[in-house]
Amino acid sequence: ILRGVAFVQIPTTLLAQVDSSVGGKVAVDLDHGKNLAGAFYQPRLVLMDPDTLDSLPLPVFMAGMAEVVKYGCIWDKDFFNFLAVRPSRQALMADIEHILYTCCDIKRQVVIDDELDTGLRMILNFGHTLGHAYELAGHYTEWNHGEAVAAGMCAAAKLGVSLGVTPAELSGQLESTLAGLGLPTFIPCSAEDYAAAVGRDKKGAGADITVILLDRMGHAVPHKISKNALLKLL
Ligand code: GLY
Repeated sequence: ILRGVAFVQIPTTLLAQVDSSVGGKVAVDLDHGKNLAGAFYQPRLVLMDPDTLDSLPLPVFMAGMAEVVKYGCIWDKDFFNFLAVRPSRQALMADIEHILYTCCDIKRQVVIDDELDTGLRMILNFGHTLGHAYELAGHYTEWNHGEAVAAGMCAAAKLGVSLGVTPAELSGQLESTLAGLGLPTFIPCSAEDYAAAVGRDKKGAGADITVILLDRMGHAVPHKISKNALLKLL
């Protein structure tokens, strides 16, 4: 808008503070889907005040926690373990500055390496390919983004186990942490909604798609698979 106007992000939800305000992705939704008209355009400043989180409804706060847990899964096992023993909003808010800093620092490292999302940045997509299917299945009203991503991460962990990439115990560990936060670990989804989400995923190219899996807690790996094989497994 206004061809290159400088802007400042002032995120007031947990999800925006740890993810969407940082890294320069900007987008608007189209009738065909979420975030489809988008660009990379860095803000001059991201200004966040953790006190704004106090007025969030609990489900909105916990939706942000799905993205927070994601950072532990893909990058930092100790951070995951730190979160796993803080299953309440009160316990998390007691350490919120550390949580915000850790998430933004991980995102900073990833985005500095790959601002335009052609390599490392794809790991931030962990849980999102399937999460988008759940958002679609719920017509974008039944599940918020964080809830869909929580179930998407659990499904991606199970997928990783079936593909021999993810250790089996990791899947249970992730499910119990997310369930402890009141987030869904399973969302029913039709084959059609899976197919629609896989078909329009930005990480798809031709007959193949890159899904992000965990080969251990704290470490994500891109895994190329044919869309047909993925849909069969799902
Ligand atoms: N929200 C994912 C990314 O910024 O790449």
